[in-house]
Amino acid sequence: MKRIAILGSTGSIGRSTLSVVESYPDRFQVSTLAAGNNAELAFEQAVRWKPHVFSIAKEQEADSLRAKLRSAGLSEIEVVHGAAGTVRVATHPEVDFVVSAIVGVSGLEATYEAVRAGKTVGLANKECLVVAGELITAEARKQGKPLLPIDSEHNAVHQCLRGGRMDEVARIWLTASGGPFLKTPKSEFASITVQQALNHPTWKMGKRITIDSATLMNKGFEVIEACRLFNVPPERVQVVVHPQSTIHSLVEFVDGSILAQISVTDMRLPILYALTYPERIPSELRFSIGDLRHLDFCPPDMAKFPCLGLAYEAAAAGGAKTIALNAADEVAVAAFLNGQIGFEDIPRIIGETMAATPAGHLESIKKVLALDTEARLLAKEVAQRRRKGSPIGAISQ
Ligand SMILES: NC(=O)c1ccc[n+]([C@@H]2O[C@H](COP(=O)([O-])OP(=O)(O)OC[C@H]3O[C@@H](n4cnc5c(N)ncnc54)[C@H](OP(=O)(O)O)[C@@H]3O)[C@@H](O)[C@H]2O)c1
Repeated sequence: MKRIAILGSTGSIGRSTLSVVESYPDRFQVSTLAAGNNAELAFEQAVRWKPHVFSIAKEQEADSLRAKLRSAGLSEIEVVHGAAGTVRVATHPEVDFVVSAIVGVSGLEATYEAVRAGKTVGLANKECLVVAGELITAEARKQGKPLLPIDSEHNAVHQCLRGGRMDEVARIWLTASGGPFLKTPKSEFASITVQQALNHPTWKMGKRITIDSATLMNKGFEVIEACRLFNVPPERVQVVVHPQSTIHSLVEFVDGSILAQISVTDMRLPILYALTYPERIPSELRFSIGDLRHLDFCPPDMAKFPCLGLAYEAAAAGGAKTIALNAADEVAVAAFLNGQIGFEDIPRIIGETMAATPAGHLESIKKVLALDTEARLLAKEVAQRRRKGSPIGAISQ
């Protein structure tokens, strides 16, 4: 029985993980859970899964969850809160496997501490690897534990890499659906609305990653994620637009062979793969190969999607540049979702924030978090200048 912690249990990946756990009750058991602000779902999940520990973001919500669980006769569930609570969930002695699925840098400390505590970690939270990939992968190597990618592209690469040795790999090819604006002319980008940007053609995901998919920043993060996870330089990680999202990614070997991974577009499959690695177990997530008609590919339009180029730049520079990239994107996407800036302002804010941030050296998670705070402040100042209408008023997150 594998005992599982889910960081971000109320989110899209968190709920899919619970659905996988539900399908294999003889293999997996929920041990601890961590959520953000969705107190209602947190209560439902606590009642359904009866974890040893439940963490929720705010102290007040934790008090109320504790009281509700007591009234429901579940006072044995320990309710904790905040960053320390999430770390407790991730490092609990009764946990074997941690699914890291909090969105953004809020999941970093707990993910790093899980690795440090010798847990096997399934990583959905790509921001952790973007901002602190060198530190996390070094710690995982030290602990002798694998970091198992849940992000579908990296999960696909992980599967393809089982077909050869790392020194036999020529290139990693990450596929990109191209997002909702693949065919939209650049001249129309200025008038893109939040609703249009949230309409992803193939995946149903959280809001931030959906906007990141529309700007191709998500693919840029994935380039950095691939560099850190598989220890390859950015020039050996290529992006190819593949609108059907049928092939989740590919690995090209030195002899010219290319291995691709195909499966349904359902995150439960990479989650199941990570949870059972190195085994494979039967599932109902079948892909109907006989129905496959088209596999289209084209290079990404770097001029239309400048976020991708910014990510390559940050991947090559490393250090604080990747922190600035992520922090500025988080600030810019929040401002866009709040209707404060336009779609084209997102890469401008990121570019300006990155340009004003020296690469520096990252020696600890504390330093990463400090640089993240600095980059966020800087990005808010930049975003403030780009704010629609009145220049006065705070850019919020
Ligand atoms: N969704 C996908 O298909 C997909 C695919 C690949 C990779 N990913 C990556 O997986 C991560 C999660 O994505 P998602 O789509 O599942 O996002 P999501 O639906 O927005 O869920 C985010 C989760 O993080 C929790 N959270 C946010 N801030 C928190 C905090 N300060 N403390 C504790 N928990 C906090 C949220 O809690 P509340 O809801 O309770 O506030 C929620 O459970 C992201 O890094 C994303 O890039 C997602």
